[in-house]
Amino acid sequence: MIIVKTIKEMQHNMKEVKRTGKTIGFVPTMGYLHEGHLSLIERAKQESDFVAVSIFVNPLQFGPNEDFDRYPRNIERDKKLAEEAGADVLFCPDTKEMYPDKPVVTVSVNRRTDALCGKSRIGHFDGVATVLTKLFHIVLPDKAFFGLKDAQQVAVVQGLVDDFNFPIEIVGCETKREADGLAKSSRNVYLTEEERKQAHHLYQSLGKAQGWLSDCDSGETEQKMIKYLEEHTVGTVEYCKVLSYPELLPPEKDDEKLIIALSVRFSKARLIDNVIIDNVLVKQGSGEETCSVH
Ligand code: PAJ
Repeated sequence: MIIVKTIKEMQHNMKEVKRTGKTIGFVPTMGYLHEGHLSLIERAKQESDFVAVSIFVNPLQFGPNEDFDRYPRNIERDKKLAEEAGADVLFCPDTKEMYPDKPVVTVSVNRRTDALCGKSRIGHFDGVATVLTKLFHIVLPDKAFFGLKDAQQVAVVQGLVDDFNFPIEIVGCETKREADGLAKSSRNVYLTEEERKQAHHLYQSLGKAQGWLSDCDSGETEQKMIKYLEEHTVGTVEYCKVLSYPELLPPEKDDEKLIIALSVRFSKARLIDNVIIDNVLVKQGSGEETCSVH
């Protein structure tokens, strides 16, 4: 695996790869790799001739009170893991390389960001869309692989690629979980022992919500999820939402897919999780079935 730190060298290498006719699969990350990231690299390996992975903790997508400075980093371990998973090149620029100056132009996301994380993380998805625009131009991928754990990110990136006509296929990959169902995340290391023991209830609540949705409307299902999480964890529930996917609007009967998503804030980590399901509201009658929130 080659390690590249400069944009110039990376672009040069990737143009060379393209010239040989190989297809390029790209997995952008912020490092501190875990099995979730590695599953994306493995999927990219299956679907492309050449796999590029990037590690860059992007300051533009962190708010002033967020965890940019204490975001976990371990580049030596990451190099080993990325190589073992099948990466051909690892692009790990420093902040000055990516942002030598305050950017003249940034990307601003207009839709799909009013709900879920976008609602509280103002500017977060603008930062994601901006760095990905840069990375797509540097890496020149045919396909880019993203985890559906961050389903709102996938919805925004699909919008970016569609609206700016990037000739890139976005592949949404399923969420890798711990044995008890907790979604793998770089931030799980910040859970206390007690919080870690309770954290499987996040995924449990998503399973329960699917059941509740078959006879409750979306609002009642959200209330039941909040109650369940408040009863089973010490975390503070930031949101529990049932929305259309990928538009992330209040669900209508003719939406094809729905997302059930949650965010819970623990003492040092904010965890998110979701499931995307076929629209069960289609099967319901008026949507006014009785459903009690005990
Ligand atoms: P990061 O949080 O490092 O995640 C990199 C990729 O790994 C994302 O596509 C994310 O959805 C995926 N991922 C994380 N946990 C996963 C899991 N348990 N199962 C499957 N995939 C998982 O997301 C970012 O970085 C950044 O916003 C980035 C896209 C790199 C732009 O800076």
